[in-house]
Amino acid sequence: MAEIKDNKDIYILAIESSCDDTSAAVMRGDTVLSNVTAGQAVHEQYGGVVPELASRAHEQNIVPVVDAALKKAGVVKEQLSAVAFTRGPGLMGSLLVGVSFAKGLAASLGIPMIEVNHLQGHIMAHFIKEEGVEKNVPEYPFLCLMVSGGNSQIVKVNSYKEMEIIGQTIDDAAGEAIDKCAKIMGLGYPGGPIIDRLARNGDAGAYTFSKPHIPGYDYSFSGLKTSFLYTLRKLVADDENYIEKNKENLAASFEATVVAVLMDKLYKASKALKIKRIALSGGVSANTALRAAYADYAKRYGWEIFIPKFGFTTDNAAMIGIVGYYKFLDGDFCSMDKPAFTRTIL
Ligand code: KG4
Repeated sequence: MAEIKDNKDIYILAIESSCDDTSAAVMRGDTVLSNVTAGQAVHEQYGGVVPELASRAHEQNIVPVVDAALKKAGVVKEQLSAVAFTRGPGLMGSLLVGVSFAKGLAASLGIPMIEVNHLQGHIMAHFIKEEGVEKNVPEYPFLCLMVSGGNSQIVKVNSYKEMEIIGQTIDDAAGEAIDKCAKIMGLGYPGGPIIDRLARNGDAGAYTFSKPHIPGYDYSFSGLKTSFLYTLRKLVADDENYIEKNKENLAASFEATVVAVLMDKLYKASKALKIKRIALSGGVSANTALRAAYADYAKRYGWEIFIPKFGFTTDNAAMIGIVGYYKFLDGDFCSMDKPAFTRTIL
C-alpha cells in the first residue's frame, strides 16, 4: 500500500458483479480513474438473465476486467489502499465471483476490504467525480428515485450511510415492467432501451392503461403489465400484425404510464417531506421520457434535479468505489467472514 498523506493518496479498487455486468473501477480519492465493464450478451437469446450463465461469464471476465481497470488508471496493485466490493443484493452465483476475488486480492496485498450495498452504490453515483469535470452534487437530505430492473424505491438520503426507504414497489420493479412489456411485444432483451427508442416516435396518448391505486408512496406495476397484455390480446386477435403496425404508439403509451406513476408518488413524497432536491438513479434513469419528466417538474415545482451521467446509471464499479471511499475515510472495513447476500433493503 502506498503512503497516505492526503485523501488524494487513497487508491481504491472497486468490484461489482451483482447481476450480469462484471465491472472494476479504480478511484483516487473521490475521483474515478477508470471504470471498465464487461456486459454479457449471452442472456439476450433467453429474454432475461440466466443466473448460472451470469456466474460463468463473471468467472471468465473478472481477471481481464480488473487488469484493464488498473492499466487504464495507470495504477499498479501495490499502490492500492483497499478493495471495495458489492456484497449484495444480487444473484448469489454472480456475487460470489466478485466477493471471492475481492477477498483473495485484499488478503494477498494485505490491505483492508470494504463491503458495499449495491443500492447504496446506485444512489451515491451522484458523488463520483471525474478529472477536469465540474459537478454539482446534491446536498443532504435529498430524495432519490431508484429505478432499475430489480428495484423501484423512493429513498430519503440523509448521508452516505443513512438512507430511509419512503416507498417501494410491492411487486414488479419499473424496469422489470418495461422489459416485460417489450417481451409481450416480441421485442429483444433488455427491453428498456428498445421501448425508449420506439417511444420517441410514438403518441403517448394513443392508449390508456389502468394505473395502480396503492396507498402512500409505494408502487405497483404488475397490474399495468396485465392491462397491457389484455389490451394487446384483443387487438392482436383481430389483426395479427397489430403490434408491428402500432409498436411506437404502444411503447410510448406504456412508457408514459410508467413515468406518470413514478412521478406522481415522487411528487407527493417531495411535497410531504418538503424536499426539493430530487435525484434519479438506476438503469431506468437512462429513459428519455423519465429524464424529460424530471426537467419538467424542475421547471414547474422548482426542483433541483440530479441525473447521473449514463455510464454511472447502469451497474458499474465506480458507484461501489465512491461508497468505498467514504467508508475508507470512516475506517469502516469488513472482515473476511462476510458472506454475499441476495436480498436486502438499505
Ligand atoms: O440498474 P440496472 O442496470 O440493473 C439492475 O437492475 O440492477 O437496470 C436495468 C434496467 C433494465 O430493466 C433495463 O431495461 C432498464 O434498466 N433500462 C431502461 C433504459 N435503459 C435501461 N429502461 C427504460 N429506458 C431506458 N433507456
